[in-house]
Amino acid sequence: MVGVCPFHSEKTPSFTVFPNSQNFFCFGCEAGGDVITFIMRSENLDYPDAVEFLAKRVGVEIPQNGDMPNKGMSRRRVYEMNLEAARFFRACLFDENIGRAGMHYLAEQRKLPLPIIKHFGLGYAPADFGALISVLKKKGYTDAEMKEAFLCGISQKTGRPYDYFRNRVIFPIIDTTGNVVAFGGRVLDDSKPKYLNTSDTPGFKKGRTLFALNYAKNHCSDELILCEGYMDVVALHAAGFENAVATLGTALTPDQARIISKYTQRVVLCYDSDEAGQRATARALQIFADVGVEVRVLQMHGAKDPDEYIKKFGRDKFAGLLKQSRSGFDFKLSGVLSRHDVTLPEEKIRAANELCDIISRVYSTAEREIYIDEVARRLSLSKESLTMDVERMRRRHYKEKKQAEMKQAQVTAMSVGDRINPEAASSVQAAAAENAIIGLLLMYEEHRLAVQRGTVELSEADFFTDFSRRAFVEIMKLQSSDGGFMFSLLGESFSADEMGRLTRLEQARRALTENSTAVLRTSIEALRTEKNRITAKSADPISGIEQLLAAKRKK
Ligand code: GTP
Ligand code: MN
Repeated sequence: MVGVCPFHSEKTPSFTVFPNSQNFFCFGCEAGGDVITFIMRSENLDYPDAVEFLAKRVGVEIPQNGDMPNKGMSRRRVYEMNLEAARFFRACLFDENIGRAGMHYLAEQRKLPLPIIKHFGLGYAPADFGALISVLKKKGYTDAEMKEAFLCGISQKTGRPYDYFRNRVIFPIIDTTGNVVAFGGRVLDDSKPKYLNTSDTPGFKKGRTLFALNYAKNHCSDELILCEGYMDVVALHAAGFENAVATLGTALTPDQARIISKYTQRVVLCYDSDEAGQRATARALQIFADVGVEVRVLQMHGAKDPDEYIKKFGRDKFAGLLKQSRSGFDFKLSGVLSRHDVTLPEEKIRAANELCDIISRVYSTAEREIYIDEVARRLSLSKESLTMDVERMRRRHYKEKKQAEMKQAQVTAMSVGDRINPEAASSVQAAAAENAIIGLLLMYEEHRLAVQRGTVELSEADFFTDFSRRAFVEIMKLQSSDGGFMFSLLGESFSADEMGRLTRLEQARRALTENSTAVLRTSIEALRTEKNRITAKSADPISGIEQLLAAKRKK
């Protein structure tokens, strides 16, 4: 079964579900695995939590005491600790002594109404170096855990922990299921850095999170407002625009664009009116182009950002701007027209070329026709000549894309830049043999039993790359365990990306007709031969140099 991939932006489906082997693989982004891997990726959960998520859905209770193996602190524990921290920051803000400066900043300087401060759970981190640490310690969290969640740092000089957020107003960042996943903290004056943010952790990826989507998600099915700053979002919600969200201080990522497209029909870009904001707008338009959601651009004059605009001109004026927001194409069109004096013939040609290039990248034929009409009118050129130019460019882009794909396919075949199995690049032959072996072992119990009983000789030492060796060890471990072999259980030892690779290796074998023990034996033989050849070769240069040195000494 084939569909559009939920894990990367595409318009031609390459996401495939194989009902027989009960797994999936995307030929575009190489995401793959089974239902648990799928949930790990889509819900951003680790293995035990994904199992629990699915168990809950079918009404199966997972015993809490039988702790599943887990690397580092569980996400649930991070979220619980973050929630404690958020409670502490909020209590500080509302404390008449401790929180005075913070409250003054939010309520007086930034003019935020009390209900909105409460709604967003805003807080204040005291200037103290150990206030939060001592609270969390009492709740049973260790220094190492606080450090892992970026709530404290460890002093290089003394080795002692210190609070990461100090003397800042705090914006808790909450995911769409209600977990406090991170914090942003703003200084109360003009000192630098203006904002501190939680860095990426296993349970938190900036590039996949949007500030206030937890609030906006029920108000944005028609239209969603995307802005730059936390403050813009808070001010917009305060003014009644509850469909506003922001990225977390970084440029929009394709992941965020895809997430947004799940919640809304139309996005209005509300970036700052300065040059950086306009550049970010152009970039965001590109990113959304791959996602298939309508994008409009709001133009502000007389204010730097939505927060400032609403304070200066009021909510009704802002509602007017929203209504007047222009299509993404209009935004680009006026950009091109402002850069060229189209009364001069050469400049007009340049403008027409740039615009045809923009139009040639539009996916829908009807949309292209509308834009061509518009450009024909604005530049007084015939639709026919513009259409011809656009089509010529489309053919060229198509050719370039095909060439790039070919090149990528060659690079992939050479395993260059393979992040999952980096060693594969140093011997394409050995890697190919290993891939066949792992694929075969995953596919048939018969092969695993043959190796286990020694009818086919294969051991850890035979492998050339670390990834394949690990795969071999884990597969064989599962085979000999009482629970029987289940592909799913590999998810405990391999990351979601690695599970994708294992799925690909198995599917690659399934696509072939010959998967007998004879093939397994031949592949093992090929691996050994290749490994011997490499070992002999790598011993060579040293002896070569020694020969040279010896020859020199003789002279
Ligand atoms: P105000 O100045 O309080 O109105 O904040 P703002 O939200 O308008 O901030 P600005 O437009 O300057 O920046 C937009 C977003 O970029 C902020 O909301 C932050 O998420 C992020 N950001 C700004 N300054 C910094 C910084 O110094 N460090 C980091 N990590 N992020 C920042
Ligand atoms: Mn601002």
